[in-house]
Amino acid sequence: MRPRRPVFAVEYLPETIDVFIRAIESADRNEEHRWAIDVLHEYFNAVDGTHPVISREKERFEAAAPKQKEMTGSTKMAPYKRALNGQSPVDFDDFMKLSIRRRSVRWYLDKPVPRELVDKALEAAAQAPSACNRQPFVYRIFDEPARARELAAIPLGTKGFAEKLTGVVVLVGRLRAYPQVRDRHAIYIDGALSAMSFMYALETLGLSSCPINWPDIEPQESLMKNAIGLEPDERVIMLIAYGWPDAEGLVPYSAKREHAQLREYQ
Ligand SMILES: Cc1cc2nc3c(=O)[nH]c(=O)nc-3n(C[C@H](O)[C@H](O)[C@H](O)COP(=O)(O)O)c2cc1C
Repeated sequence: MRPRRPVFAVEYLPETIDVFIRAIESADRNEEHRWAIDVLHEYFNAVDGTHPVISREKERFEAAAPKQKEMTGSTKMAPYKRALNGQSPVDFDDFMKLSIRRRSVRWYLDKPVPRELVDKALEAAAQAPSACNRQPFVYRIFDEPARARELAAIPLGTKGFAEKLTGVVVLVGRLRAYPQVRDRHAIYIDGALSAMSFMYALETLGLSSCPINWPDIEPQESLMKNAIGLEPDERVIMLIAYGWPDAEGLVPYSAKREHAQLREYQ
């Protein structure tokens, strides 16, 4: 925050330290622990240590936190200044070309997609924003064509092309990431933002994709649950067909809206 206040976050500091201690005690040390430790160190360095709650919680934190040198990795996982170095690494014209090149593709070559390429696209997908950075979704990837076709036939809206697909992703959201009812829609927003990055990244790798609507109705829910197994709090966000585009296959002409219809400056 600018300006940074000498005392902040006191209302939820004890609960944060409780959870931190539980996490440190209950699991193997991992990246998330390192992140929690670095951020809390930064917090205690920044705030007024004479505040009674802060001083008490700082002691509890220091007693529980492993010494930094015991943790692996050297990057400090705390707020930092981005190295902007002038221009964006991708210029607008190139990004526009990519945006125009990406079309929903329904016809693919019968040629396997190396998993390394999908994993690369997922690296970009992982960078998407999500509420509180909770990243409440998992890409379940089916790259065995018969299985991909079976799953792509479950949502309505894939008639005529589901039976020829070579790979499909079932993007599954986890409601457990957001315990408050008011956030029940967040998995869909977070998942969709990530999916967009995923599809753009596929396109940069020569692959194509087609988002597939997930109908929010019971028969489809139970078909998918039986087909892939879903935890009680898991919801399908969408499916994404992907593969090597067949250059001979047509894509529909999709007219896009112009500024006048797209925006209203207020
Ligand atoms: C949430 C969502 C659901 C979609 N569902 C389907 C679908 O079930 N079947 C299909 O053929 N295309 C589906 N599409 C693709 C759209 O038809 C396509 O994005 C739209 O016509 C614009 O074309 P473009 O993606 O090539 O720009 C879906 C797209 C989105 C974003």
